[in-house]
Amino acid sequence: MEKTQTQTKSLFRLLFFTIFLHNIHPITTLTPAISPSKPPTSAPSTTAPSKLDPKQLRALQSLNIPTTKDPCSNPPSLHNAIRCDTAKPFRHLLSLHLINCSDDVSLSITALKLLSTLQDLQFIDCPVAPVAFPLELVSNIKTFTCINSLKKLSGVWLSKLENVTDLTVIDVPIKASGPVIVVAHLNKANKVVMSRTNLTGGLPGKSWNANVSHIDLSGNHLKGKIPISMTELENLVHLNLSSNQLTGELPSTMGDLIELRNLSVSSNSLSGPIPESLKSIPSLISLDLSSNQFNGSIPSFLGKMKGLKHLNLEKNNFQGVLPFNESFIKKLEVFKIGDNTNLCYNRTTLSSKLKLGIAPCDKNGFPLSPPAQSPSSDDEGDEDDSSSEDSTSDKSGGHHGPNKVVLGVAIALSSIVFLIIFLILLSRRCA
Ligand SMILES: *[C@@H]1O[C@H](CO)[C@@H](O)[C@H](O)[C@H]1NC(C)=O
Ligand SMILES: *[C@@H]1O[C@H](CO)[C@@H](O)[C@H](O)[C@H]1NC(C)=O
Ligand SMILES: *[C@@H]1O[C@H](CO)[C@@H](O)[C@H](O)[C@H]1NC(C)=O
Ligand SMILES: *[C@@H]1O[C@H](CO)[C@@H](O)[C@H](O)[C@H]1NC(C)=O
Ligand SMILES: *[C@@H]1O[C@H](CO)[C@@H](O)[C@H](O)[C@H]1NC(C)=O
Ligand SMILES: *[C@@H]1O[C@H](CO)[C@@H](O)[C@H](O)[C@H]1NC(C)=O
Ligand SMILES: *[C@@H]1O[C@H](CO)[C@@H](O)[C@H](O)[C@H]1NC(C)=O
Ligand SMILES: *[C@@H]1O[C@H](CO)[C@@H](O)[C@H](O)[C@H]1NC(C)=O
Ligand SMILES: *[C@@H]1O[C@H](CO)[C@@H](O)[C@H](O)[C@H]1NC(C)=O
Repeated sequence: MEKTQTQTKSLFRLLFFTIFLHNIHPITTLTPAISPSKPPTSAPSTTAPSKLDPKQLRALQSLNIPTTKDPCSNPPSLHNAIRCDTAKPFRHLLSLHLINCSDDVSLSITALKLLSTLQDLQFIDCPVAPVAFPLELVSNIKTFTCINSLKKLSGVWLSKLENVTDLTVIDVPIKASGPVIVVAHLNKANKVVMSRTNLTGGLPGKSWNANVSHIDLSGNHLKGKIPISMTELENLVHLNLSSNQLTGELPSTMGDLIELRNLSVSSNSLSGPIPESLKSIPSLISLDLSSNQFNGSIPSFLGKMKGLKHLNLEKNNFQGVLPFNESFIKKLEVFKIGDNTNLCYNRTTLSSKLKLGIAPCDKNGFPLSPPAQSPSSDDEGDEDDSSSEDSTSDKSGGHHGPNKVVLGVAIALSSIVFLIIFLILLSRRCA
């Protein structure tokens, strides 16, 4: 028992890491299960590829990262995809992913200096203590990812990654007076994700790289308005500002973000109408305005957006008649409009079976009653209920067809089988 537990534990603590090297050779990549006896996949005619720079190998070892003699051709774990180039005399590290580190991994400046050829450095579930990165490494890094790792980061530290194009920090507190400290220095950043980092302050407006395509500042404590200048970021594809404390209205120029595909501002304190200009965003696939205080009527142009798949407008103060028809609603993968007390749906165009979570309208377009959620909706005579839906409800009205009996027996039998298997497994484990 004791032994199995420690084994499982050390298995879980296995450090998976991936090393990509300069001038990746496409043929030697991603062989799913590499057996050590087999030589590496034949490289085209030339001599055998050289090994990793011994200095870099020693640096990896000094960081307590499990590795082999030549991590290029011998991956340190089954799950690694290791790719090597044929550079002479030695190859160099381009990419290092530290995932699920064990506790004894520790960063040192000397080792990191030797690893400063890295362009892609990722820490995922790797709670090692952070250190200052040597300047060479800092200026080389293009992709930096830190998810639930390195304990904490400072805005000033992140702002030194001046050549970074892709920055992702999730579930790590960032100490800074606002995201602008970081954003204003990353002139090449196309993707900026700082999510659940306890950032305070306001949203940067003008300091973004004009080419930025992906901004996710969700799950922070950002206050104030969405700056109008953010709508000048015409390459923006994903914008996620959900779960902050933003106030004010969506800028009326929101529709200038013509590349936008995903927009979420859910769980803030935003108010006002859905801007008319949104209709000029042809590519929008996901719009989440839920849990705010948006008001006004829901514009009918949303129902004409061909690419829309995800529409969440719940928990707001929208009012009036829902302008969508059934075919639009059914086409969506996600559609939520509940918890808008002054919003209602037209009973002659939409069935109550859609369970929209809002009340039907009276003839003046006001909600008739609280949203009908009771199954006893027989009084709404305009829809003839297909009995298949209703017979599943708990009314034990006697028509249990033979199919249902068979199904019941099958379920009971399979549960018993599962229980037996479970008990056997349990007794083996405890033996
Ligand atoms: C890290 O380990 C946990 C188990 O401790 C496992 O569930 C998870 O998938 C691992 N993560 C990665 C990226 O391998
Ligand atoms: C990083 O950017 C600076 C200017 O911002 C430039 O001088 C330097 O060469 C860049 N470094 C690399 C490795 O691209
Ligand atoms: C953010 O702050 C809260 C409350 O102080 C804390 O519970 C949470 O763990 C912090 N989040 C991170 C990513 O540090
Ligand atoms: C934006 O990207 C284009 C090419 O996609 C490039 O020519 C231009 O220099 C970039 N501008 C900035 C500010 O990064
Ligand atoms: C926005 O971020 C939240 C929280 O991080 C996440 O749950 C949601 O899926 C994201 N939405 C989009 C459209 O990216
Ligand atoms: C954008 O929205 C689509 C549809 O909901 C979703 O599948 C996709 O993961 C989202 N992308 C991002 C980056 O959030
Ligand atoms: C929306 O709310 C604002 C106050 O937040 C109010 O001034 C405005 O008249 C409301 N609009 C509608 C259409 O109810
Ligand atoms: C539903 O509405 C869309 C536009 O809002 C329209 O193109 C489509 O023809 C309508 N479908 C039906 C069945 O009325
Ligand atoms: C509901 O739809 C019908 C048919 O399109 C229309 O005549 C009626 O005015 C609508 N009712 C409301 C309250 O909008």
